[in-house]
Amino acid sequence: MSIRVLVNGALGKMGLEVIKAVCNDTQTEIAGAVDIKATDKLLLCPDQSGSVQLFVDLETAMGKTKPHVMVDFSQADGCMAATRMAAQQKVNLVIGTTGLASHDLVEIDQLAKENGIGVVVAPNFALGAVLMIHLARIAAKYFDYVEIIEKHHEQKLDAPSGTAMSTARAMREAREGLFKHPQVHKEILSGTRGGEMEGVAVHSVRMPGLLAHQEVIFGTSGQTLTIKHDSINRECFMPGVIMAIKKVSEHKGLVYGLDKLLGI
Ligand SMILES: NC(=O)c1ccc[n+]([C@@H]2O[C@H](COP(=O)([O-])OP(=O)(O)OC[C@H]3O[C@@H](n4cnc5c(N)ncnc54)[C@H](O)[C@@H]3O)[C@@H](O)[C@H]2O)c1
Repeated sequence: MSIRVLVNGALGKMGLEVIKAVCNDTQTEIAGAVDIKATDKLLLCPDQSGSVQLFVDLETAMGKTKPHVMVDFSQADGCMAATRMAAQQKVNLVIGTTGLASHDLVEIDQLAKENGIGVVVAPNFALGAVLMIHLARIAAKYFDYVEIIEKHHEQKLDAPSGTAMSTARAMREAREGLFKHPQVHKEILSGTRGGEMEGVAVHSVRMPGLLAHQEVIFGTSGQTLTIKHDSINRECFMPGVIMAIKKVSEHKGLVYGLDKLLGI
């Protein structure tokens, strides 16, 4: 039996890519699509393989399409409202939307456990990005200085990126003491030393021509080590999203990060 998938945020850049990936996989089928911007009742599949029912209201969509899994690539507030509704309906969730606060993650875990569903939340579904965080976690033990430069397209709503925050958190957990974050004697232009998280300076670049890129630069006496990842198109996220769709029902509660599904 194929897994029936409802996509929330379906008319967005990621939503459309997810619909295409779900249509292309033999073990998944697209049950429906939801977007607050929807005006039509049908959405042509991006690969022209057929059309999918399109809804503006999630509750109606849930009732009519009876999905096994809902995938959310919308916007943080909308995502939390959708999560509450999906949990009530006992629908498993795969969440890629970023900008969720730590209290949102606590609520998601509670909702998932109370309703006996699995929820995968991954700030980055690209395998290379997950490995970048894994490698940064290893290097964190050996360097006292580290800074992150993350670069994204100019339409990204949040800063810093969820990936940058996950990287900072993972590196901090991997070592005993805080990283050293040297303050300059005189900051002539405010913010030029970046935002600080877990002792790590994070710098966010936003401009057209970029998709999603990150460099983690470690420093110690006489040497630096740079771990760098570039997403050059949105297809790079899809193997991770499809894997999460297939595995989410094996879990009860929140699974945070694709690394947990990959076993690293
Ligand atoms: N986890 C990852 O690997 C990953 C990768 C890329 C983007 N993202 C995140 O995914 C999210 C979407 O990114 P995008 O580039 O597709 O953005 P986008 O602006 O192109 O698409 C968002 C879509 O969601 C819709 N939407 C907004 N609020 C909604 C609501 N309450 N209910 C239903 N639909 C709603 C919008 O109308 C829009 O069509 C962002 O948070 C982004 O940071 C995550």
